[in-house]
This record gives sequence, C-alpha cells and structure tokens, in this order.
Amino acid sequence: MPDRDIHPENLSLSADVYGTMHQNIEIARKRRVMRIFAVSEGRWADRRVSVTPENAKKLTALGHNVFLEEGAGSDAGFRDQEYIDAGATIAGASDIRKADIVFSVNSLTKELVGLLGDHTMLIGQHGKCDDLKMLLEKKITVFALDWIPRTSKAQYMDVLSSQASLAGYKAVIESAHILCRGIPLMMTSAGTVPAARVLVIGAGVAGLQAIATAKRLGAVVSAFDVRTSAKEQVESLGAKFIEVDSTEKMDGVYATETGEDYKKAQETKLRSVLPSQDVVITTAQIPGKKAPIIVKADMVATMKNGSLILDLASKTGGNCELTRHGETIDVNGVKIVAFANILNLIAYDASRLYSKNVCAFFELLAQELQSNGSIADSKDDIIVATLLAYDGKIINNKLEIS
Ligand code: NAI
Repeated sequence: MPDRDIHPENLSLSADVYGTMHQNIEIARKRRVMRIFAVSEGRWADRRVSVTPENAKKLTALGHNVFLEEGAGSDAGFRDQEYIDAGATIAGASDIRKADIVFSVNSLTKELVGLLGDHTMLIGQHGKCDDLKMLLEKKITVFALDWIPRTSKAQYMDVLSSQASLAGYKAVIESAHILCRGIPLMMTSAGTVPAARVLVIGAGVAGLQAIATAKRLGAVVSAFDVRTSAKEQVESLGAKFIEVDSTEKMDGVYATETGEDYKKAQETKLRSVLPSQDVVITTAQIPGKKAPIIVKADMVATMKNGSLILDLASKTGGNCELTRHGETIDVNGVKIVAFANILNLIAYDASRLYSKNVCAFFELLAQELQSNGSIADSKDDIIVATLLAYDGKIINNKLEIS
C-alpha cells in the first residue's frame, strides 16, 4: 500500500472521486482516491464479508484502492481471485494501518484497533462497540450502520432491514428442514398430509419475510404483533393476524415495552393458539432493550410433540424463556432452536445486500465530505444519526442505551 497521506479533514478530495459515480471515470481516476480496507469477519465466526467483488469493482472503477484480508470473502462464496479480477488487492491484517477507511460487518477487535492509523474512518455495525477508549485515543471516526434511521431515504443503507429480511426467510427454511413433517397440504393415494401451522410472533422486517416464506411453502400462517399497523401488512401476505383483547394500542413505527394488561391478554391468547402450532418463529424486539419474554416455560409444555420454536431474538435474550442462544435444545419433544448467527447460513446473499448497503452509505458520506469538508458539520440526518465518534469525542449518545 502507498504511504498514508489522507486525513479525514481532507477527504473531500477523495469524496469528490466517489461523488462522480455517474461522471467520466477517467476524470475520477486523475483525482485523489481512498484506501478502503475490508476485514475478514472470520475472527467473529461470521461468514459474511462487507464488500463483494461486484462492489469492489465499482469502487476501484471510481479510482479507489480496495484492499481485503486474504480469504475475507471465501466463507461467503467469493474467491480471492474474484476480488483480484475486480481490481482489488489481497492484503494482510497489518495493512489495515494504512487504510483511510475500514469496512466491516462487526465491531473491530482490540487487536485490529491497535493497528489502525490515527483518524481512520470506520463503517460497520459499531453500535454495540464495547471498548471505545482506544478508538477515541486514535481519533477514529466511527459510523454505526446499525443506527441508520428507518426512513425511505435511508432504505438503501439499512443493514438491519436487509439482514433481518434474510434472517426471516432462512428461519422458515431451517424450520422446515428440522421439522419431521411436511409443510404444504399434500393429497396422496396413501392419504392426506395436512398443511403445517406456522405462528410468527413479531411482524417487523424479519417476521413479515418469515410470513411470506411460510405462505409460499404452503403453511397455514398466523401472526402476532403489538403494533396495530402490522395487521394490514400481515393480512396483505395472506396470513391471519391474531388480535389481542387489550385496550392498549401501539401505533408508532417502533414497539415499546407493553403494559401488564397487554402482556396478560397476549399470554391468554397465545396459550389458546400454541397447542395447535407446528412451528413458532419469534422475532419480537424492542429497540435498545432486552427482547420481551413472550413464550414462557409452561407454555412450551402445552406444545405438540415434534413441534419447534425458532427464536430469532435470542441474541438479545430471546422471546422464549427456555431459549439458549447458539443452541438447539429439546424440551419434552419440542425443539427450541436459536442460531448464534443465522445469517451464516445465507452468507452469500447477506454479504451482497450488506455490501450494497455499505457502498450506498459510503457514497452519501463522500457527497457530504464534498459539500461540507468535515462530517462534523454535516446536517444530513443519516450522517448525524450514525456518527458515533469523531476527533476523539463520542458524538452520539445512543451508545448509552444500546
Ligand atoms: P424489530 O426487529 O425491532 O422488532 C420486530 C417486531 O417485533 C416489531 O414489528 C415489533 O412491533 C414486534 N414486537 C415487539 N414487542 C412485541 C411483543 N411484545 N409482542 C409482539 N410483537 C412485538 O422491528 P423491525 O423489523 O426492525 O421494524 C421496526 C419498525 O420499523 C417497523 O414498523 C417497520 O415497518 C419499520 N421499518 C421501516 C423502514 C423504512 O421505512 N425504511 C425499514 C425497516 C423497518
């Protein structure tokens, strides 16, 4: 890698290069460029990669130098040679020190942060970053992609949505695989196989994709959500929305913790529904908080032998009281499944979508740098919402609640 010579304050020149996406690439090439480094996520047992060869090609065509750790894309199905063909360079971990900007899926390890040059920029899911001390000492600029606002403008950069959607799909596919019975109604000369019953708890991004997938497989699908606006979306997918008899209504975009009245009413309803279900997929989350416990231990005991619960909320504690993150357990014939990272099972597509999200964010950042010179002066709502640290200071106080 050439010597490091770009300071974040001067990145407007590089930004200019990226901002010319639709202009003549030759002009862009004559300008200064950024050194982008994508780390191998294998150190977090994550099979995804933050840049695909397709996006590496777009970035290099704009004049940027793209570096990837050796084998960074291999677990997601992308060979080093594909990156080389795309114009990227395969590098060692220590080369991160010369990067201007680092793309990642996870927060960087202490070891990697130790290697960073001062004032490097980081783009990744850094919202749960535990150890900020060294990042602040090195005046690293940190963008937390997991804090992208849920607005139409930010949709292209919304990593939580892109990844949740794939998780919802894969949850159904894995459930169908584990279940020792079929999903669709099948009429055979030896008899009828009834359609499986699938219950989805939480009809956000993951839940709606789970509903759509289970419907496509031919299941009889029903769903719960605390937000009243979810009803229409659930029904538009052909599933039954289960109403909870409570005066408490939640109309916002995000769920908040439910009151005791709602919790009791939901439990009563759930107790009547659970014994008939073959698959229960739970996705209920409350931003910034532990996931609500919705399926209690004694409720699991009422479920059919051979049925299963797949808990997508396990990382934040789980929606089932018995869930163990990263494990599959059997409780009297009911399997409770909680993958450590279900996206590892769909790493190719998860990486493709994540990479597009990251590059869309990078494009916005570059435009902002071009017009403002310093991201600290940016008024863009996406930049403002995601800027975690800048010039040795914590900028965004969301860190305290995450
Ligand atoms: P999430 O992952 O935070 O939670 C999943 C679902 O669980 C939510 O629908 C939530 O209402 C539900 N939930 C929480 N507590 C519950 C309980 N006790 N019982 C039943 N359900 C419960 O949500 P996600 O998927 O991140 O979506 C949050 C909101 O953001 C939704 O309204 C979604 O439509 C919106 N959104 C908007 C986007 C945009 O405009 N670009 C993009 C993505 C999401």
